[in-house]
Amino acid sequence: MRETICVTGGAGFIGSNFVLQRMQEDGASIVNLDKLTYAGNLRNLESIAGDPRYEFVHGEIGDRGLVRKLLEKHQPNAIVHFAAESHVDRSILGPDDFIRTNIDGTFALLEETRAYWSALADEEQKRFRFLHVSTDEVYGSLGPNDPAFSETTAYAPNSPYAASKAASDHLVRAYHHTYGLPTLTTNCSNNYGPFQFPEKLIPLMILNARDGKPLPVYGDGKNVRDWLYVEDHCVAIATVLRGGRPGETYNIGGWNEKPNMEIVETICDLVDEIAPRAGTSRRDLITFVKDRPGHDRRYAMDARKIEHELGWKPKETFETGIRKTVRWYLENEEWVRDVTSGSYRQWIATHYSG
Ligand code: NAD
Ligand code: TYD
Repeated sequence: MRETICVTGGAGFIGSNFVLQRMQEDGASIVNLDKLTYAGNLRNLESIAGDPRYEFVHGEIGDRGLVRKLLEKHQPNAIVHFAAESHVDRSILGPDDFIRTNIDGTFALLEETRAYWSALADEEQKRFRFLHVSTDEVYGSLGPNDPAFSETTAYAPNSPYAASKAASDHLVRAYHHTYGLPTLTTNCSNNYGPFQFPEKLIPLMILNARDGKPLPVYGDGKNVRDWLYVEDHCVAIATVLRGGRPGETYNIGGWNEKPNMEIVETICDLVDEIAPRAGTSRRDLITFVKDRPGHDRRYAMDARKIEHELGWKPKETFETGIRKTVRWYLENEEWVRDVTSGSYRQWIATHYSG
C-alpha cells in the first residue's frame, strides 16, 4: 500500500524542501496543509503542482473542522508537523501569532490527530507516526565552554519563539505519555539553503551583499549558531520517521558552530567571487547594529543519538552548502523578486530603521 504523509507548513522554507525531496526519493503521496502566511510560498512547489501524488490544502492547523476532514479524506500514515511562526525577531515584536500557531495550533492538530488515530485499526495505529519538527532554541543559551545540547538537556527557552516551541514540544510529549500517540520529536539547529525567506541571517546577507546594501550584524557579531544545510535536515527527518522510536526525541545538527561574523564574511567573499564588483569588497558593507534583546549567545547540537541509533550524518560541509546557497540566491532572481515585495519591504524598513 502506498504511504500518505500529511505535511503541515509545507510551503515554508524547510517544509517545501522536505516535500520536494520526498516526492523525488519515495513513492509517498503528500497532502500539504499550509496557511500561506508571509513565509509560505507556493512557487517553491511549482515543479510538483501537477503531480497526482501531491495535493495542496490552503488552511490553518488551528481549524479543527478542516483538519478533521483532511485526515478522514486522505487517511495518512504519518503527519510531519512543520507549520509554525519561526522568526525570533518577529516574536519579539509581536508574540501573539507565535502563541496562536505554535501552541494553540499544535494543540488543535494533536487533538484531531488523536481522534483520527484512535479510530484506526490496530495495525494502522501501530504504523502511524506524528513527527513534530522543533528547534535547538528550546534549550536556551550555552557558554563558550559548555558541552553541546543533548536530548536530556533541560529546557530553558529565552525568546517568545523558543518558549512557544518548547510548549509545543511538551504537548507532543504529553500526548505520547498520556494517550500513547506514536510521536517523534526532532530538535534541529539553524538551517540554511534554497527557499529560505530572506529576513533570516544567511539569505538577508546574500541579497544585501548582492545589492551593495549594509550588512546589519547584531551586537558584536560573536553569537554562535550551529548551521545545517536544509537538505541534510530533511533526510534526517525522513530517517527519524522511518526508524525513530515512538516517544523519543532526536537532536539534529551539523557539527558546524560558527560566529555570525564568520558567516557574513564568508558570504561577502563568495558574492565577490561569483558576482564581482570592481575595486570593492562586500566586507566593506558590514555594519554593526543594535543587538537583539535577550540574544542567545551560543547554540550547539550534540547529534550523536541520531547518528548511533539511525545512522544519519550530514552530507554537506558548511563550505559546500554555503557555496550552493549563495549560487541559488544569485541565480533565482525571479523567486527573490517575488518574495521581496510588499510585506517583506515593510518588515525590513521597520526592523532596521533605528
Ligand atoms: P517558515 O517560517 O519558513 O515556514 C513556516 C510555514 O508554516 C509557512 O509556509 C507558513 O505559511 C506555515 N504556517 C504558519 N502558520 C500556520 C498555520 N497556523 N497553519 C498552517 N500553516 C501555517 O519556517 P521554517 O524555517 O521552514 O521552519 C519549519 C519548522 O522547522 C518550524 O516548526 C521551525 O520551528 C522549525 N525549525 C526551523 C529551523 C530553521 O533554521 N529555519 C531550525 C530548526 C527548526
Ligand atoms: P536568525 O537567522 O534570525 O536565526 P536565529 O535567531 O533563530 O538563530 O539569526 C541567526 C543569527 O544571526 C542570530 O545570532 C542573529 C543574527 N542576525 C544578525 O546579526 N543580523 C540580522 O540581520 C539577522 C536577521 C540575524
